[in-house]
Amino acid sequence: MAVKLTVNEETRELDIDPQMPLLWAIRDHLMLTGTKFGCGMALCGACTVHLDGQPIRSCVTPIAAVAGRRITTIEGLTGPAGKAVQDAWIALDVPQCGYCQSGQIMSAAGLLAHNAWPGDADIEAAMSGNICRCATYLRIRDAIHHAAATLAAQPARGG
Ligand code: FES
Ligand code: FES
Repeated sequence: MAVKLTVNEETRELDIDPQMPLLWAIRDHLMLTGTKFGCGMALCGACTVHLDGQPIRSCVTPIAAVAGRRITTIEGLTGPAGKAVQDAWIALDVPQCGYCQSGQIMSAAGLLAHNAWPGDADIEAAMSGNICRCATYLRIRDAIHHAAATLAAQPARGG
């Protein structure tokens, strides 16, 4: 069955099962492999993408639930918050093995798009569903503060 998906501003028609998890469509059909598979049960955050600007777990989201809506993956993460987060990740050398990091970045960008100046508790709440086996949590928190400071120094901002 043909399903229309808008991913990273591009609309694609895919002949796939509408109940297929979005993660498989992104990785196996659109070949956007920056989004990772971890647990497949909404427990680790490795598969995080944005749906209309909000972080979601693509491993448990059927395609039928997102058809016609705006999906953003790490490959298409732009805008002030997305850029500030990615720059901060580089500046603070956040990743270790890297496997969880696209999901971490998507969650962080989603946080900053809606909370310009998050405190530690806000960061903890927003990021607690993103697991890092390399325990880069302190660098992630510092990088989010760094990105928030970068955004605060800009004249205008958005997601
Ligand atoms: S793979 Fe989706 S939350 Fe773990
Ligand atoms: S950097 Fe290795 S799992 Fe997070």
